[in-house]
Order: sequence, then C-alpha cells, then structure tokens
Amino acid sequence: MSVTDEIKERLDIVEVISAYVPLKKAGRSYKGLCPFHGEKTPSFIVFPDSQSWHCFGACGTGGDVFSFVMKRENLDFGEALERLAAKAGVQLQPRTEQRSADEQHLDRLRQIVGDAATYFNYLLNRADEAAIARDYLERRGLLPATWEAWQLGYSLDSWDALKDRLVSKGYTLEEIADAGLAIQREDGSGFYDRFRGRLMIPIRDVQGRTIGFGARVLREDPTRPQPKYINSPQTPLFDKSNVLYGLDMARKALRDANLAVIVEGYMDVLMSHQVGVCNVVAGMGTALTEAQMRLVKRYSSNLTLALDPDIAGDHAVLRGLEAARQTLEREWQPVIGATGLVRQESRLKAQLRIAALPRGLDPDELARQDVDAWRRVIVEARPVVDYYLALVGREEDLTSARGKANAVGRLAPLIYEIASPVERNHYVQMLARLVQTDERLVAEQVAALGRAPAVERRLQTNDQRPTTSDQRPTTDGEPGARDDQRPRSSSVVRPSSPVGLEEHLLSCLLLRPDLLARLDAEMIEQHATPLGEEDFADAENRAVLAALQTASLPAESWTADDALALVGTALEDRWRAALVQAQRNPALADEKLLKDLGDSLLRLRERNLRQQVNQLGFLIRESEEAGEREQLRAYQELMVSYATQKRYVHKLLNARTMAGALAQTTKDKSS
Ligand code: UTP
Ligand code: MN
Repeated sequence: MSVTDEIKERLDIVEVISAYVPLKKAGRSYKGLCPFHGEKTPSFIVFPDSQSWHCFGACGTGGDVFSFVMKRENLDFGEALERLAAKAGVQLQPRTEQRSADEQHLDRLRQIVGDAATYFNYLLNRADEAAIARDYLERRGLLPATWEAWQLGYSLDSWDALKDRLVSKGYTLEEIADAGLAIQREDGSGFYDRFRGRLMIPIRDVQGRTIGFGARVLREDPTRPQPKYINSPQTPLFDKSNVLYGLDMARKALRDANLAVIVEGYMDVLMSHQVGVCNVVAGMGTALTEAQMRLVKRYSSNLTLALDPDIAGDHAVLRGLEAARQTLEREWQPVIGATGLVRQESRLKAQLRIAALPRGLDPDELARQDVDAWRRVIVEARPVVDYYLALVGREEDLTSARGKANAVGRLAPLIYEIASPVERNHYVQMLARLVQTDERLVAEQVAALGRAPAVERRLQTNDQRPTTSDQRPTTDGEPGARDDQRPRSSSVVRPSSPVGLEEHLLSCLLLRPDLLARLDAEMIEQHATPLGEEDFADAENRAVLAALQTASLPAESWTADDALALVGTALEDRWRAALVQAQRNPALADEKLLKDLGDSLLRLRERNLRQQVNQLGFLIRESEEAGEREQLRAYQELMVSYATQKRYVHKLLNARTMAGALAQTTKDKSS
C-alpha cells in the first residue's frame, strides 16, 4: 500500500472535513455549505463510502481528502501529505537506497510467484497429467468457473518442471527458492521443486496479487503418508500470520454484509463463494492472529467463526478469539454510577460470534449440500460468551470454590464488554447459575471491572500501544481519541486499486511524456476537453499530472528514472511499482498508444460522470422528499448537464470502438 493509500485508510474524510465545515448526515452521505464558494443552501457533499467530496453548486468540483486540504489550506500536495500523515500517525520515510532495493526484490518475487500461478493454472486446464486434479475438483463439485476465478492450478509430479520453466524465463534459482517455490538440497548440490503433483491454490494479498500457495495432496498413498496440505514457507512476500485466504475476493461482500465469516479451510472458502455466500475467508490453519484481525476489521467488525464442534475447547481457537477481542474497537459509553457520577466505560464495538456446524460437516460440505442450511448456520451464530460459558463449564471444577472463582474470573471480562445492558444481565444470570452463586455477587464482579484501575489500564494499553506487527501508532491511539464519541468509520474501507484507470493513464504518460500534447490535441479535435486535473479523483494523481504538464519536453533518452525524478520523492513509492508494471506491457506503436490513452481518458470520464449522475440522483430524491424545491430545481438542471456530457463521452467511446474494429478487419483482410 502506498503512503497516501495508507493515510486515506486511516483517516476518516468526514472527520477531517468536519473540522472545517459543519456537516449534517443525509442518508449515506454528509452535507454542508461549500467552503469554497458562498452559498445559502448546502450543495457540498461528502461521501464516506468512496471517501470523496463534491460540490454540486457553483464549484462543480470535488476530490479526495488530500485535495480538500490542499484547496482549503492552500497547500501543495507535498505539504498536504505531510500534514495528513502527521494526523494519521503515518511516518513519511525518506527513501533510502536499501528500501528501494528491497522493493525491487519484492517486485521480482511477485513476478515469479505470479508466473508460477499462471503456469500451474495452464497445466490444470491443459496438461494430460493434470487429469487427476481435474477429476478431483469435479468430484468435489468445484466448477471450472471457480478454478478460473481463483486461478487454481496443478503442479506436475516432477522435481524440476517448475524451476526449469522459471529459469528459462530468466529467474535465478536463488530467487525461485526465495519465493518459496524451490528448495535447496541439503548438500548444496542444487534445487528441487517444493510443490509436486498437487492441486495448487494461489494465496493472494488484499490487492489480489499472488504471494504464496497452498498445495493439496491428490494421491493418497498409504505407504508414503504425506501432509494433506503444504503451504509456501515464510518468504519476504508471504507471512501466513497476516494473510486471510480469500480476502481479495470477499472484501466487497464483507462490507456489504457487514459481517466476516471465518472458516478453517481453503475448500470451505472456495465452495462457499461458488454457491454465492461470499463474505467468507479462511485463516491459514493456525489460530487467528492479531494481524489477521486488523486486516478483516477494515471491512467489518462483526466476525463469525464457523467452527467444527469437535474443536470446541481448542486453546488455539481461544487464543485467536482473545487476539480478536484485543484488536477490535471499543466504544465508550457513559454510565451513571451508584453515587450519581457519570463514568465512561468501554464496550466492545463488535460482535464476535461462533457458528456451530452440524457435527461432522464442514462448511464446504454443508454449503455444497444445502446453501440455505449454510446461510442459516451463519445467521444463527451465537455470541462468543455462550461458547466460553460452555467451555469454562467443562474446564473448571465447578464443585470447588476455586473452580467457581476461576470461572467467574474468566467470564466476567467478556460479559463486561457486552454493549447491551439487557444482554449483559442475561449472561450474568447464566454465569451465576453455572457456578451456583448469588446473581448479585456476579453482577458486582462484572461491574467492578469498570472501576478497577488495573483493567482499565489493560484495556487502554491494548488500544493505544502500537502492536508489534505494526510499529506505527494507529489513529485509535491518538491522544484524545478516547473522548471522541463520534463513531469512527474505520469499518468503511476504501477500495484501493493500485493500477486503476487513473494510474494506467498516468504511468503511460510518464513513460512517454511527449504524447501528452498529442493526446490533448486529439481531445480538442473531438470537441472534448483536454486532460485536466478534474479527470482524476486522487489528489496524488493530480499532482503527478501537474508535474507532467509543467515539465519541459523530454530528451530522446527518457527513462523511467527520469519519470520518477519528475514525480518527486514524496510520491516515488507508488509510481515505481506502476512504472515497472507499465514497462512490462508490450511496446506499442505510437498510434496504438495514443488510442489507448484516449480510450482510457474517455472511459475515466465516463466513469466519473456516471458516479456524479448517481450521486445527483440520490440528492434529487432527497431534496424531493424534504420538499426543498429550489434545491431540487438546481440539482435537476445540473443533472441535465452531467447527463449530456456523459452521453457525449459515451458516443465518442462508441465511435472509437467502431473505428478500431473497422481498422482491425481491414488489417485482417489485407494480411
Ligand atoms: P482442513 O483439513 O479442514 O482443510 O484444514 P480443507 O481446506 O477443508 O481441505 P479438504 O476439505 O480436506 O480438502 C484446514 C486448513 O488447515 C490448513 C490449511 O490451510 C487448510 O485449509 N492445513 C491443513 C495445513 O496447512 N496443512 C495440513 O496438512 C492440513
Ligand atoms: Mn474440508
């Protein structure tokens, strides 16, 4: 993730803008008087979902959190970056030689692993030897569409098929081993393939880039027992303690459902997604870690663990849950104490639930047999406290005084954190019954947690201390954040698309800045506006464009490094990756490049206009409902203008596609 993405992820645009403009919630968005022009009715809208703002009034402009602060505080991009980085608690590191070498190495490893995934997938689809894998998948009910979506593959039953293939593509054996794909023989005499004759399951990061593999055995050979799965080892890319399998595919569903279902196996994820239950991810066969919790909590704070009933009592699960509880956000509620004083108490802001599967069935089988039953299991998940209650009941000797005290001691903190007083009371009663003691005693012990300074400190340090997996302080850790009663919307996650249209367009132009003028000329010729900063939603991209536009025409020998120098150090991180990507694209003739640039720009505009038309539609409905006639008329007029622009862009795009197709057929005929 680039620094700017990270900052955006950590800051809430509504919160930042609220510091300048009073905002009022209106449906899913926030409304206020535009700070950039005088107005009486609010036409300045902030959209938390897309973390953007737009003035639908006289300005007709918008952007992200950076462009807001730049415009409002009259800063350039670098200054805004510094200011917001400080606010978000993100360290801006001066780039050192070492870091950039590390990044190049990582990039190289990503290429290797990506190439391996492509190769395995090709084998699965085409190779005769892969029949065993195809049959296996078929028997398990996984459809070819699923193989494709998840890029499943097959590794040949060979000691060197993959490594030879990768060496022939120019990678060194050391690199291949470093990517976790080959193993060096102990006597140092050479390398051999790690994965042989297995079903290959690419494990991807949130952005969908393959970073490792899970590999399932296909031949059960009783004389040579093998582990069912072998996974990529720890590599610079792959650390299984901070990966959730399927997160790249599930993230939208997690947000939409505002619930993350965590299952145990790859197969569970694959099958569940195949049958349409997509808010499902898996751990990596180990207890859930705090890093995994941080990852998933960006999408939803509601977690349901789908567990095999037989592993109830497994301490690994409990440790995982403990990690979850410590990572999840707490919210502070005022509580009136017996003395009439108001005190703030922290409660868990999330729901942690356990879904119990029918005995002997895992989510894979259940989902395959009966989707509705699988959905029901998820809906009927019980709060974690129930699970602990049963567990503690089994583990402690409840006939002894000590056992009873232990049971209350273990459960009271969980009960204390339940937000609803009614629910809390319910569990107090259950616990009292379990240990056969007076309910008031239990209630007293639970309530005491709110007063005990030791616990208070514990909860606070959990929240405020930067964790070992992430040394930077989080926004939650800002001093004073505690008093802030406004709900934080960190569960709203901005999709970060590292090579979106904007970045594609810009990286092509960075490599060929001379085409900018020709692109502009072409737009003017088609009665369209030349490329301008308004085309970009992202302030960083705007800054890069501005740098490009003011640069003097490049010399003949223009390189990616010159482009990076142009971009400036603050932004180098992200662009290095984009440029490497762009350089990998096949070299196109100027005409083709220009066509691609024009298409990209128009598609970008079409997308922006579509979003604005949607947003306007939403505002129109709202002012209709509120009976704001004047506002309504203004929005409707705007709608006409946006819709007209959108139609025109659409027409241009169509014409270009037609022209392209025509050119292609003539070429095909002549060749
Ligand atoms: P499961 O045995 O439940 O795997 O282990 P599964 O994905 O459901 O596979 P099938 O249905 O038996 O084919 C759960 C997870 O534990 C890890 C894997 O991540 C697996 O998905 N695991 C399991 C290993 O890493 N190694 C093993 O040998 C077994
Ligand atoms: Mn299974």
